Amino acid sequence: MPLPPDSLAACAVDVLTTADAREKTVKSRAHARAWFEGRAAGRPMALGEASPPAHPARPDKPELLAPRDVPRRRPGSAQGRKALLHAVAHIELNAVDLHWDIIARFTATLMPLEFYDDWVRTADEEARHFQLLEDCLRARDSFYGDMPAHAEMWHAAEDTAGDLMARLAVVPMILEARGLDVTPPMIAMFRKAGQDDAVAALETIYAEEVGHVAHGATWFRFLCERGGLPVQETFQALARRYFHGALKPPFNEDKRAEAGLPADFYWPLVDDIRPD
Ligand SMILES: [Fe+2]
Ligand SMILES: [Fe+2]
Repeated sequence: MPLPPDSLAACAVDVLTTADAREKTVKSRAHARAWFEGRAAGRPMALGEASPPAHPARPDKPELLAPRDVPRRRPGSAQGRKALLHAVAHIELNAVDLHWDIIARFTATLMPLEFYDDWVRTADEEARHFQLLEDCLRARDSFYGDMPAHAEMWHAAEDTAGDLMARLAVVPMILEARGLDVTPPMIAMFRKAGQDDAVAALETIYAEEVGHVAHGATWFRFLCERGGLPVQETFQALARRYFHGALKPPFNEDKRAEAGLPADFYWPLVDDIRPD
């Protein structure tokens, strides 16, 4: 048995370099437990330093395709619902890596221990989200890797690898906020189809993702205040520079506001952020 990683950064690299999806999520949960045990005992694990890989290890399957090549399936069909669960599982697995990457990549920026608490908890929740969805796939005679998936999810991490504020602006405050917009219609679709397991999984995800966006907004504000920067203008400038997707309504304005993202943060970006 290899020794457990002796610092939080080493835990992060351990998750990032694990290819098997189930094993990656089991490690994410175990390392989170170890972190919080140390915190509760008043002996926090060392933060440490590490070199996270440029790309996290991933399993051989699913095959990763350019977004335009990922087959589209009829959303109302059984196959379409399965494909949607698979697509969300892929997003959750990517999120596990994204959050451990935040922990490992920016250790040179001095942050309070509560910052690490928030991202470790978030990485733990993403691991559970993946597992919930994989359970749903298995209940439908499928599994993660059964269908091709989107190849370009790591771009946001690469684009923001040199700037913690840009990472927070793009990952939790734009991409995860997008999850708040699109999840309620998904829940409604599975409810209509009478698929209670998927409804329960997505409701858990939806409730917890509000917290992920909120952590992003909180720590973004913290860094702005520490640097004497105006929060809204700085967010918009970083979004314009680093985010290359489309920001489009409808927005879940209530949930976004609950997470600390008022409408005047993102509405001004709608017209000027366009896909590459
Ligand atoms: Fe998630
Ligand atoms: Fe999340």
